[in-house]
Amino acid sequence: MLRIRNLSVVYEQNQGLFRRAYNTAVSEVDLDLNAGETVALVGESGSGKTTLGKAILHLVSPARGEILLEGEPIAESLGFRKRVQAVFQDPYSSISPYMQVRDIVAEPLVIHGISDHEQRVREALERVHLENDDAMLDKYPHALSGGQRQRVSIARSIVLEPEVIVADEPVSMVDAAHRADIIAVLREIQVSSGTSFLYITHDIASTRGFADRIAVMYAGSIVEEGSVDEVLGKPLHPYTKALLESVPDVDPANATRLRRAISGEPPSGISLPTGCAFHPRCPVAIKGTCDVERPQLRVPSDGHPVACVLHVGQKKGGSEH
Ligand SMILES: Nc1ncnc2c1ncn2[C@@H]1O[C@H](COP(=O)(O)OP(=O)(O)OP(=O)(O)O)[C@@H](O)[C@H]1O
Ligand SMILES: [Mg+2]
Repeated sequence: MLRIRNLSVVYEQNQGLFRRAYNTAVSEVDLDLNAGETVALVGESGSGKTTLGKAILHLVSPARGEILLEGEPIAESLGFRKRVQAVFQDPYSSISPYMQVRDIVAEPLVIHGISDHEQRVREALERVHLENDDAMLDKYPHALSGGQRQRVSIARSIVLEPEVIVADEPVSMVDAAHRADIIAVLREIQVSSGTSFLYITHDIASTRGFADRIAVMYAGSIVEEGSVDEVLGKPLHPYTKALLESVPDVDPANATRLRRAISGEPPSGISLPTGCAFHPRCPVAIKGTCDVERPQLRVPSDGHPVACVLHVGQKKGGSEH
C-alpha cells in the first residue's frame, strides 16, 4: 500500500551570517506499510520519527527518494489528502480552540466538498467513545479533558475513512489514566476499518499488542525491522537491546526505580559519527570496524533485517537501489 524507498530528508539550518548546516534527519529509509497493518516506528528523541511521518503526510519534502501510495508518488496521487490522515501528539495544539466539536470533526469533510456530514460526524464520535449528542457537538475544546480532545482529533482523522493514519505519539501527552482508553479506541479502528497505521513512539514496550511490525530508528536510519515478536522477543541490534532495557517503569510510585537509560547522547544529523552511527554508545562496538564501516540492513539466515556488523546476512530484499 505505502512504499517508502531510499528516503532522505535534510533540514537546512541557519547558523548565523552566511553559515548553514545541513541536518540529515532521515537517511536512506526503506519501509513498507501494508494494507491493514500497523508498523511502529520507535527510537529516541531526535531520531527522525516525526520527520518521516511528516514526509508521508507530504508536510516536508524529501531531499532524495520517494513515497508511493498504491504505486503512485504521494504528491501526485489522486485524493492523497483524503487517503492519508494524521493524529498528532498534542491534542491542545492540533485542534482549533475556536471551533466546536461538530465543526472540528466535520472540517475534513467540508474541505473535500462532502455535504450532509452530520451523520458521519456522529458516527465518528461514537467510534472514539464520545457521546454523539448535541451537548458534545456544541462543545469547544476548552470544555474537554486532554483525553477527550485527543479522541476528537482521532474522530477527525477517521471521518474520511482514510487508508493510512500516521499517529505520532498519540498518547504521550494524555494523562496516564486515559492512555488505555485511547489505545483501545485505536485498536477498534484497526480491527473494524482495516486502516493501516504508522504508530510513532519512543516507548518500544507500548508496541506490544498494538503493532504488527516494528522499525527501530537511530539517527535517521532504520537499524532493525521485524515483527513485534521478532524484535521484542529476539532483538538483534545493540541499540534495540538498549532501548528495551531502558523502558521506563510506568508506575509513578516506582519512579526511583526507573531502569537504566542508554548512556551517552544520540548524535545530531549535522555531523554523524563515522561508521555505524551508534558505535560511540555501543557496548559491543568493534574498534577498527564499527567506527569505519556503515552497516546496511541485512537479513541474517536465522533472523530479521538488522544493520549491524555482528549480524551478517543477505541484503534486504526489495531495497536495492
Ligand atoms: N522543522 C525543523 N527544522 C530544522 N530541524 C528540524 C526540524 N524538525 C526536526 N528537526 C531536526 O531533525 C531531527 C529529527 O527530528 P524529529 O522531530 O523528526 O525527531 P523525533 O524522532 O520525532 O523526536 P521526538 O521523539 O523528540 O519527537 C532532529 O535533529 C531535529 O532537531
Ligand atoms: Mg517526534
